[in-house]
Amino acid sequence: MTQAIRPQPGIMDIALYVGGDAHVPGQANALKLSSNENPFGPSDRAKEAYSRAVHQLHRYPSTDHGPLRQAIGEVHNLDPDRIICGVGSDEILTFLCQAYAGPGDEVVFTEHGFLMYRISALAVGATPVEVPERERVTDVDAVLAACSYRTRLVFIANPNNPTGTMISTSEIERLADGLPPQAILVLDGAYAEYVEGHDGGAALATVRDNVFMTRTFSKIYGLGGLRIGWGYGPRSIVDVLNRIRGPFNLSSAQLDTAEAAVRDQDWVAKCRADNTRMRGWLAHALAEMGVPSDTSMANFVLARFASADEAEACDAHLKSQGLIVRRVTSYKLPQALRITVGDQSACRRVAHAVAQWKGMR
Ligand SMILES: Cc1ncc(COP(=O)(O)O)c(C=O)c1O
Repeated sequence: MTQAIRPQPGIMDIALYVGGDAHVPGQANALKLSSNENPFGPSDRAKEAYSRAVHQLHRYPSTDHGPLRQAIGEVHNLDPDRIICGVGSDEILTFLCQAYAGPGDEVVFTEHGFLMYRISALAVGATPVEVPERERVTDVDAVLAACSYRTRLVFIANPNNPTGTMISTSEIERLADGLPPQAILVLDGAYAEYVEGHDGGAALATVRDNVFMTRTFSKIYGLGGLRIGWGYGPRSIVDVLNRIRGPFNLSSAQLDTAEAAVRDQDWVAKCRADNTRMRGWLAHALAEMGVPSDTSMANFVLARFASADEAEACDAHLKSQGLIVRRVTSYKLPQALRITVGDQSACRRVAHAVAQWKGMR
């Protein structure tokens, strides 16, 4: 690169996002529990829609995502005109930063918040502001204290990744109430479907001018490989985001598959019930072996060890047994491992391997 050619300020401060490992050298059938994917994959109806999409590959997709927004609106009882769809919810987070933050502006998120908040803020030249959590739980008072006239966006994942913890709707309301007038509260609901009866912040985003919600098809819908997400909030914000969205950001295969997936709520309910059962089982099994975790509301458990060395050693043992979990040092949790809740046999394998490592088996 010549001296004259240089990227925008902030870009070189971005640490490359490293996803969960997918392979272990020498282990052909390793089990991936490192990216919070649904062990059961997508519903049959979603898979059928994807197969049918092959017949329309020569056609450009719809630019307004009408049928998908309509389906999401019907299922969640939301106004489709206030919904925007993107290439994963990551793209919606990116749009929010592009549209509302720039050099001199601040983007606030919590200590163990999702890595893309920092990346998206730096990518537009804004300043990331990281707020301490209280024992791995979002601390609303600390977030409010970190806000100023420079704050443009506040990202809160609820439940949070990688902690799995959640704060109450009244705490979220208190946060929305206390924000400076130019700031938008973004409620990231990537794991909202795992919480029975939780609307991900939709009701709040319906009535507040300063609250926006993001959701994904990558987790409970089992479509991480296809990259589809959506956002919902004030009409004025959706209008702004649509101006920077590429007209063909989603392919017809993505749109049709997501539409079929969201209409199959029986599959969602089955996956939620299985996850709740196996998450409780896994957390309990680990706790019995002296490996604690906070009460997780998502599809993973954040297992805590006495030290970073112990976490590393346990991770190495799990890998040797063909089990890939996630080290979360980049989330400032070097002494922990994030373990996706798999199916029953996966959870049993994890518990068995941790017991072996502990010398209990
Ligand atoms: C909290 C949170 N938000 C957003 C995302 C992004 O999801 P996607 O871009 O796949 O929709 C993830 C993915 O892991 C996440 O954990």
